[in-house]
Amino acid sequence: MGKHILVAFGGVSPEHEVSVITGMQAAHTLKDSGNTIIPLYISKSGKMLTGEHLLELEEFKNLKELEAKSKPCCFQIDTFGKTVLSETGKSGLFSKNKAYQVDVVLAAFHGSDGENGGFQGLCESFNLPYSGSGLLASSVGMDKRACKIHAASLGIPVVEDVFITEQQWIDNRDELLKKIQELGPSVVIKPMRLGSSIGVKKASTEDEISLAIETAFRYDSHLLAEKAVSPLMEINCSVLGDFEKAEASVCEQPLGADESLTFEDKYMGDEGKGMASATRLIPAPVSDELTKSIQDASVKLFKSLDASGVARLDFLVNKDTLEFYFNEINTIPGSFSFYLWDKTDVPFSALMNRLVELALKKHRQKNGRIRSYETNLLSNKAVKGIKGLKGKG
Ligand SMILES: Nc1ncnc2c1ncn2[C@@H]1O[C@H](COP(=O)(O)OP(=O)(O)O)[C@@H](O)[C@H]1O
Ligand SMILES: [Mg+2]
Repeated sequence: MGKHILVAFGGVSPEHEVSVITGMQAAHTLKDSGNTIIPLYISKSGKMLTGEHLLELEEFKNLKELEAKSKPCCFQIDTFGKTVLSETGKSGLFSKNKAYQVDVVLAAFHGSDGENGGFQGLCESFNLPYSGSGLLASSVGMDKRACKIHAASLGIPVVEDVFITEQQWIDNRDELLKKIQELGPSVVIKPMRLGSSIGVKKASTEDEISLAIETAFRYDSHLLAEKAVSPLMEINCSVLGDFEKAEASVCEQPLGADESLTFEDKYMGDEGKGMASATRLIPAPVSDELTKSIQDASVKLFKSLDASGVARLDFLVNKDTLEFYFNEINTIPGSFSFYLWDKTDVPFSALMNRLVELALKKHRQKNGRIRSYETNLLSNKAVKGIKGLKGKG
């Protein structure tokens, strides 16, 4: 039977447009499978908006007009105790605010609060089933350092690095520069909690390193300096499932203009179609052995982080030695990595249905536990003994 699926996309993120495309792809496919779609668009300034027109990609050409046509909205718990999406705009005689039933949320954000656990926390608070990873995997996944420490603890190789905070850089610049240069002839400086290659720079000389660090501090107060893998080949693998059962997709080799992908390579290159159309080789032209090692590491890390739904795990490979290193996990990959699942015999509609099923399963597991007690401890006599209360005994 068809469900009422809230498709959430947009967001205050540099990957806003990519998310709109992913959201449209998901919404149309789920609609074609017989579901009712409620769009939830989060504008670039963070407004929550809804309206039928938000299901048409054409409408996003003019964001000002789009916002003017949309209805502000928020989650609310109705009189039956069910969470609904309620319009909150001015309501008149002919424009009464509506409330929409929500059976499940399909989160199609990329980056920032939509992917780092912020939006997931909102769904948790309203006890709404939502697709993708929960709070742990979402927030660890957004923190490159925490994620590398976790991967290393599982025996998955990661690139050697130096962690830098802004204050340390001010206090111990020379000492840090020395440590960074000891990593290797070239290093990569990157903000710890960003994406889309923003602020990521390869550097060799002391001046280049300092400049890259100063630039990256414009984006984040925490940075990583990593030994540069060179010559570099990037291999990505997607994982679908949850902590109980997860499978790996075929691997891809994304191809950048340079050794490293820039924001422009990724998103601006192919008429703005997003990652889906970036240049890539599928399956990645590497040995079965390397493919299997990367797939196994991906599934192991995915399960260990308690990730759910679909994620993409990115690896850096030394082209000469074929040593591989885990680089990062994207808990909501661009276009849900459909191009990898398509080649793994999971068509997009099946992928979307799996995401919905996994969201409902996660919700059932959460709601099957005791989460609160009916007994009101504050009605107990013991309260009388607490300081600061009126009428204490
Ligand atoms: N240690 C490294 N050695 C060589 N290239 C790197 C290294 N780390 C990152 N890169 C290059 O920079 C790109 C962006 O870095 P990444 O860590 O993936 O950040 P983002 O989250 O912004 O995608 C990678 O896709 C890769 O091309
Ligand atoms: Mg990356």
